Amino acid sequence: MKLLSRDPRLICELAFRPLALVFWSILGAKALNNGLARTPTMGWLHWERFMCNLDCQEEPDACISEQLFMQMAELMVSDGWKDAGYEYLCIDDCWMAPERDSKGRLQADPQRFPNGIQHLANYVHSKGLKLGIYADVGNKTCAGFPGSFGYYDTDAQTFADWGVDLLKFDGCHCDSVTSLADGYKYMSLALNRTGRSIVYSCEWPLYLKPFHKPNYTDIQYYCNHWRNFDDVYDSWESIKNILAWTTTNQKEIVDVAGPGGWNDPDMLVIGNFGLSWDQQVTQMALWAIMAAPLLMSNDLRQISPQAKALLQNKDVIAVNQDPLGKQGYCFRKGFSM
Ligand code: GAL
Repeated sequence: MKLLSRDPRLICELAFRPLALVFWSILGAKALNNGLARTPTMGWLHWERFMCNLDCQEEPDACISEQLFMQMAELMVSDGWKDAGYEYLCIDDCWMAPERDSKGRLQADPQRFPNGIQHLANYVHSKGLKLGIYADVGNKTCAGFPGSFGYYDTDAQTFADWGVDLLKFDGCHCDSVTSLADGYKYMSLALNRTGRSIVYSCEWPLYLKPFHKPNYTDIQYYCNHWRNFDDVYDSWESIKNILAWTTTNQKEIVDVAGPGGWNDPDMLVIGNFGLSWDQQVTQMALWAIMAAPLLMSNDLRQISPQAKALLQNKDVIAVNQDPLGKQGYCFRKGFSM
């Protein structure tokens, strides 16, 4: 359990969270007590840039495959991402075969991941990185692959056996808010029981929208980070919507964040096509101030030196990774002339 103060701070005016341990207090909240994500998770996640591209015949360089992740792993090391702090290489939806194996275990698509996930995890670990994977609390993933409902222990153990280091657990195809809550809690405990250190990334509050109010005490007790709002897209509209939701709801969400448990406004889309330079700078600054997980979704094989320098900016990353872990908040909305 952590005991930290929560002094909310500015986001609208791009004020940065101080690095010092000032105004320390012992008032604080409890986060998932697995010793992980003491600062916001940093890494790469395939979804926004590569989505559910299954077509390795036509698009061998853009489909969700072992090759894509091996290439990203190499670049994360050779191009300074790992040194900058981006450690978790994360697989999102669409890695699975359409059916479980004869023992009821999830399996990777044999064409696209011919050597399986354990082999990929070994490779990723050999580079000094960590591997993230994706599953779903309900009957199916959002893209229609096998869900974990009824298989939480099996899937937690499978991921641990493979050497997985992070699980993004989605919330599609779950029949009630009770089974959603039960499933998220159960999986947290199941991961813990495996004895392997696995960061637990939830989408629990997002799937309670718009009719149910999230219980953030529970959510931060069971999850290392949690998505509150819609998926990010490669557009300024999307970034603005996320920021608007965050400021509107800051009273509920800012104080619950801290070492071990973070609000997740979704991926960084810097280095893609939809944001102007100023918009990319703004996303980086505000995600840092919001103490957000910094999970890039871009193509590290073709990223501009400018975007790379922004994503690897040591000072901005230091704000995000401040050990005090206090999320900034919107103090005032201003207009420039
Ligand atoms: C969404 C989720 C996205 C991505 C996608 C995969 O629900 O919010 O981040 O994981 O499912 O199908």
